[in-house]
Amino acid sequence: MLSEILGRIFKDEAVCFVMITREEALGLLKRENVPEHIVRHCFLVNRIANYLADELVEMGVNADIDLVDVASLLHDVGRIKGTTNHQDIGADMLDELEEHDVAKVVRIHGVKKFDKALSIEEKIVNYADKRTKYDEIYSLDDKLDDGIERYPLEFKEIIERVRPKLKKFEDEVFGIIGEDKRGLESLKK
Ligand SMILES: [Fe+2]
Repeated sequence: MLSEILGRIFKDEAVCFVMITREEALGLLKRENVPEHIVRHCFLVNRIANYLADELVEMGVNADIDLVDVASLLHDVGRIKGTTNHQDIGADMLDELEEHDVAKVVRIHGVKKFDKALSIEEKIVNYADKRTKYDEIYSLDDKLDDGIERYPLEFKEIIERVRPKLKKFEDEVFGIIGEDKRGLESLKK
């Protein structure tokens, strides 16, 4: 609590800051009038991302679980104002709030931005989003195939280019935390 208060003071003085809290992130979704079905999707992506981050950290991987938590909650905060550019809209909003770390994760959560050079937090949130359709859990392949069906033809090439990178990350993650967790069974309703 003390660090949060100090962080807020420093934030005002632009010296350093404490990242947005989960409660504040939920407040932001509300303030931006993010529709309920998108909020439900954000909660599912958040559950998957937090689960993977917690499991990876438990296995000794260095990941910022608080960043994964708030960035996954807010990854679609710009959705009401845009579709294909909603990542940038949400990220710009967070940059304006001086939440640059969260903004960075939100900005690259689109399928075409997945790359091995991303941070572990960016990869986790991007991947978690690729395991969902609305508030349902999908396999990675089913989600990517669904994207190919639904989006314009030029997306097919992009998705097929990124698919092996996402699959490699998936294999690495479940190689670390256990193959039996790949289906995310414990997170299903
Ligand atoms: Fe999403």
